[in-house]
Amino acid sequence: MDLYEYQAKELFAAHGVPVLPGRTVETAEEARAAAAEIGTAVVVKAQVKTGGRGKAGGVKLAETPDEAQEKAGAILGMDIKGHTVHQVLVTEASDIAEEYYFSFLLDRSNRTFLAMCSAEGGMEIEQLAVERPDALARVPIDAIAGVDRAKAAEIVAQGKIPAAVADQAADVIVKLWETFVAEDATLVEVNPLVRDPQDKVVALDGKVTLDGNAAFRHPGHADLVDERTEDPLEAKAKAKDLNYVKLDGEVGIIGNGAGLVMSTLDVVAYAGEKHGGVKPANFLDIGGGASAEVMAAGLDVILGDPGVKSVFVNVFGGITACDAVATGIVEALKILGDAATKPLVVRLDGNNVVEGRRILDEANHPLVTQVGTMDDAADKAAELAAAGA
Ligand SMILES: Nc1ncnc2c1ncn2[C@@H]1O[C@H](COP(=O)(O)OP(=O)(O)OP(=O)(O)O)[C@@H](O)[C@H]1O
Ligand SMILES: [Mg+2]
Repeated sequence: MDLYEYQAKELFAAHGVPVLPGRTVETAEEARAAAAEIGTAVVVKAQVKTGGRGKAGGVKLAETPDEAQEKAGAILGMDIKGHTVHQVLVTEASDIAEEYYFSFLLDRSNRTFLAMCSAEGGMEIEQLAVERPDALARVPIDAIAGVDRAKAAEIVAQGKIPAAVADQAADVIVKLWETFVAEDATLVEVNPLVRDPQDKVVALDGKVTLDGNAAFRHPGHADLVDERTEDPLEAKAKAKDLNYVKLDGEVGIIGNGAGLVMSTLDVVAYAGEKHGGVKPANFLDIGGGASAEVMAAGLDVILGDPGVKSVFVNVFGGITACDAVATGIVEALKILGDAATKPLVVRLDGNNVVEGRRILDEANHPLVTQVGTMDDAADKAAELAAAGA
């Protein structure tokens, strides 16, 4: 889950990372009141879960409360890269001597955590990373050893942060690591981390991604969810405890086991090329026990996606054998009744496959087509999706 800047900075503050005071508001009038309360010049900042807000005109300086109201009025309702601005952060304006870049992230390809640091932070960081990669230090972090003062000092030195603020920057980095670990984050980014004219180091921006798989350890994280920006189908699936990820295609996918579902997405995307470029519409892993209830819940979510034109159910029977899965499909279609409207291609294999196929044949449901192999089933599902599109 990605957080808003104001939420990220609240987490930072809770872990001792220096941030400036601010308030998040939803109307221009409230922005005026917030600016009056802060009592200094302020910056009005669009709260949307995407970068490049400054360049899009979503970050504005306001010298007076009147100006804060005016700037907030212009920013609220703006569209930034497809994200509507519902709230703005009104925060103390900082004098900036220098802007640095810092982040911790999960480096999947190298199977490690990574710290990135540069004395040349700010809004052009993406360009810097491409044009002068040497100016952006990349320091691998051992997950067990973590980041102590010495490691932080090494990161600061490699990022070429000036000596005058190196100690402070290292302190901040240790606290950001504490935030990263304590909150189970997969990204903590501060851009810019600024040095003010009094040589004080402050996090002016914050970007945090929390690991949804660790949500059970953080009951408080549920409060950070903004329903306005949740995908309604993903929210529905989450409420039903389904491992569902919405994609943009036409072929709904249900499978058991994450690995099988991932390869199902691949074969459907491949087969789709021969059928007008149709693609998978989602990832959905119904796990081991493919009961009628879980199957019905999964089908219900998938059929609620208006983009879906056909559904591919790809199940390999293991501990839950194919006959149980077949019964689950038949019962699920009974539960759904008229709500089941799209053709289903079913490929069963594995434990007790003969009996499973027999159960589906016998049920003879008008929407269900059985296909023996994964590739042929993907082709059939793509063909039906193309015909229904
Ligand atoms: N409190 C502040 N006081 C003064 N200037 C600020 C303040 N907050 C942001 N700025 C300026 O606005 C610029 C853009 O702000 P910020 O980095 O928060 O948003 P952004 O453009 O969306 O960043 P990103 O692309 O990293 O998400 C900063 O680089 C900084 O120069
Ligand atoms: Mg930024």
